[in-house]
Amino acid sequence: MYVAIMGYGVVGSGVATLLKKNHEHIVKKSMQSEMELKYILDRRTFPGDPYEHLLITDFSKIVEDDEVKIVVETMGGLHPAYEYVLASLKAGKNVVTSNKELVAAKGCELLKVADENNVNFLFEASVGGGIPIIRPISQCLAANDIDEIAGILNGTTNFILTKMITDGMTFDEALLLAQKNGYAERDPSADVDGFDACRKICILAALCFGKHVYPDAVYTEGIRKITLADVEYARSWGGVIKLIARAKKMEDGRVSVMVSPAFVQNHSQLASVDDVFNAILVRGDAIGDVVFYGKGAGKMPTASAVVADVIDCARHMERKKFFGWQDSEDGYVADYLETENTFYIRATTENAAAAVAQFSEFFGDISLLARQDAPEGEFAFVTKPLSEKEIAEKLALVKEANVESVIRITNY
Ligand code: HSE
Repeated sequence: MYVAIMGYGVVGSGVATLLKKNHEHIVKKSMQSEMELKYILDRRTFPGDPYEHLLITDFSKIVEDDEVKIVVETMGGLHPAYEYVLASLKAGKNVVTSNKELVAAKGCELLKVADENNVNFLFEASVGGGIPIIRPISQCLAANDIDEIAGILNGTTNFILTKMITDGMTFDEALLLAQKNGYAERDPSADVDGFDACRKICILAALCFGKHVYPDAVYTEGIRKITLADVEYARSWGGVIKLIARAKKMEDGRVSVMVSPAFVQNHSQLASVDDVFNAILVRGDAIGDVVFYGKGAGKMPTASAVVADVIDCARHMERKKFFGWQDSEDGYVADYLETENTFYIRATTENAAAAVAQFSEFFGDISLLARQDAPEGEFAFVTKPLSEKEIAEKLALVKEANVESVIRITNY
């Protein structure tokens, strides 16, 4: 059986390495007589690379070669990954991808095309890197009615927040370190602004609730505005700040999906997930809470999930795996302003007594928080549960203070 890899970056080269390193074992598990890499598509050159002889720049070589039964897409981005994957599926080839942007934007359509062409489209590596999560949700937890899923789905932001919490680094210092360590890109926006976590929660929500969730329907907030003062107030409240992606089924059939920094209580299983690790909590009616934890990024952990999908494709050439969901209608994802939360608010003022009185008037019972060495005029508190709409309206009325931070509080 022949395999082609499209995109010879970090993950693609990890896939090639793993296919060679564990070749005998992979062939055996695949229930094939052989499993060989035939092409690697990349525009770049890799002089001296052990697979230099397999490198091609022309995609048609892959799509027109009947011997290639499995195509691995590790290019990332939407174009031309989408066009190449679509053409591969239509040509009757199984496709394995690690590309969350592609699955989040086009998953529903590509699964349908795979179905029509009686081939597999598998994407275990698109969420949680090496952590098994797509198969556990669709197979092991299939008997459950899952009504909520939440997690730390981005390793880079978790590393930055960990450094702020444990080493007292500022956001800028921690981001620089993340870039130095090769976690964050030179343009870190996809990670620090929450887009990467958003794509991943969209995929998980589609899988759990059966309808596609488009990333642009999801309220997404990143971690750029988190300060060490917020970290200290979270500590005094009894928790830590994490970037939490979450999706919940609503009683009327819609879903609530959001990505934002959030206070997480110290006793939560998500609170001790540090550095570049990811954790995903799935709440099912039979299982209760189950948490999947591990390396959510990186060359070999991600290659581990990709190659597992390759093996699964090889084993299911005749009997297709079912990972499908329907398209969704406008309004399927509820407006985030309808969501209810409790909130942490930090503000500064020149007249603390008047400001606290005004906040109490607007918010009713508030619980004040304290931190060591707070500058004069700074105060922070936690509200009772309020809708996002209510909090926005109330904050717009505040005149006695400058609101510096508003962070949601979770109950995971
Ligand atoms: N940039 C991503 C992260 C890589 O930091 O988690 C894996 O999707």
